[in-house]
Amino acid sequence: MTLTPLPLHLLPMTSRVSDEGLLSVGGVDVLDLATEHGTPLFVYDEEHLRRRCREAVAAFGDGVAYAAKAFLCRAMATLAHEEGMCIDVSTGGEMHVAMAAGVPADRLVLHGNNKSADELALALDAGAGRIVVDSFDEIDRLEHLVSAARSRRRPQVLLRITPGIEAHTHEYVRTGQDDSKFGFTVATGMAAEAARRLRESASVDLVGVHAHIGSQIFLLASFVKAVEVIADFFVPLELAELCVGGGLGVAYVEGEEAPTIGQWAETVRSACSSAGIAPETRLTAEPGRAVVAAAGLTLYRVGTVKDLPGIRTYVSVDGGMSDNPRPVLYGSGYEAFLPRATGGERSFLATVVGKHCESGDVVVRDACLPADLGVGDVLATPVTGAYGHSMASNYNKVPRAPVVFVRDGEARVVVRRETYDDLLRLDA
Ligand code: LLP
Repeated sequence: MTLTPLPLHLLPMTSRVSDEGLLSVGGVDVLDLATEHGTPLFVYDEEHLRRRCREAVAAFGDGVAYAAKAFLCRAMATLAHEEGMCIDVSTGGEMHVAMAAGVPADRLVLHGNNKSADELALALDAGAGRIVVDSFDEIDRLEHLVSAARSRRRPQVLLRITPGIEAHTHEYVRTGQDDSKFGFTVATGMAAEAARRLRESASVDLVGVHAHIGSQIFLLASFVKAVEVIADFFVPLELAELCVGGGLGVAYVEGEEAPTIGQWAETVRSACSSAGIAPETRLTAEPGRAVVAAAGLTLYRVGTVKDLPGIRTYVSVDGGMSDNPRPVLYGSGYEAFLPRATGGERSFLATVVGKHCESGDVVVRDACLPADLGVGDVLATPVTGAYGHSMASNYNKVPRAPVVFVRDGEARVVVRRETYDDLLRLDA
């Protein structure tokens, strides 16, 4: 393991490091943010978020959706909508938040492998832009709901297919075609049967096909492979729209490199063309992580430094698996640094852990940190803008961390910190 300085390209776009090593984002000093708002704290670079949204719209055109599961609050839904993105919502709850932010329902794309009748009714009544149909039971449910209320408009639906390709970072793994809870399998004929039913249905308007092959994909070749399989199914249907899902990877740690949204779109477009997909097809996608991950960072405060001679040093911070469950769930790696010495030497190897009651509560297993790190220091982890806040929990009754957007020298709280009283709010 090499003890290298923090690769500065992992920081949000408007980050600046002063001569003394102090980090500012959006023109706001990061240490001041920690003092003013407390820790743990999610900090998002608003300009970075907006640029990524614009890049997605420029790359894919109208219809490209932000996958809200990566990070959602009203401010984020508003921002993505303002920048011209649709919003991919996968539950009634996500739909509720997006609509509460004022996103028009026709800009919503509803996903889910088990949409309840209530969720479907909400989408139908509001006039959701697209419903991505995922099962035969859902087709039954939709037909029943639409025919039961004559006033309801026929929803425009996409058919979600499982192309039998699972993309991994460095290889293709053909999953057993039958082994996915999502969508309709192409290989067994299930997808063709669903297409037939949807076309014949008087209750829905089948406008296109959808496929999502995985997440955190670095290899654009994985998308090319998927498009080849999808095209065989899609072309004969002569439908107007194809959504290739999300999944573009991002760099989290030293040494990783990811394609841009623009490069992704270009590759997908050219694969579609080679595979015989008509150029007038409305080609869309649903990036989540690629829009928000690198825009965010998390600030913690160091509470204890425990040196176990000959074993390791544990640096405990005031958050952990409740604000970032990804290391525990997926073994995900992150970088760590001190915003008072950004870009400086990190010659001290330690394990950054949270404050939760389990040994697995690791934030960064092998963190390179400055040797003079001490109790009271603010410690930051970059690239925590995706699937951190959105998968946060109250484990051990730790109040959830707030979210601050920074831009042009101003910070605004878009999600406030939970209080101890909030922890009692749902008790009957
Ligand atoms: N569209 C669909 C249908 C999806 O299922 C997903 C992610 C996306 C779009 C957005 O994918 P993205 O561009 O963010 O990769 N919790 C995991 C990631 C789960 C992704 C689930 N679906 C993590 O923290 O890595």
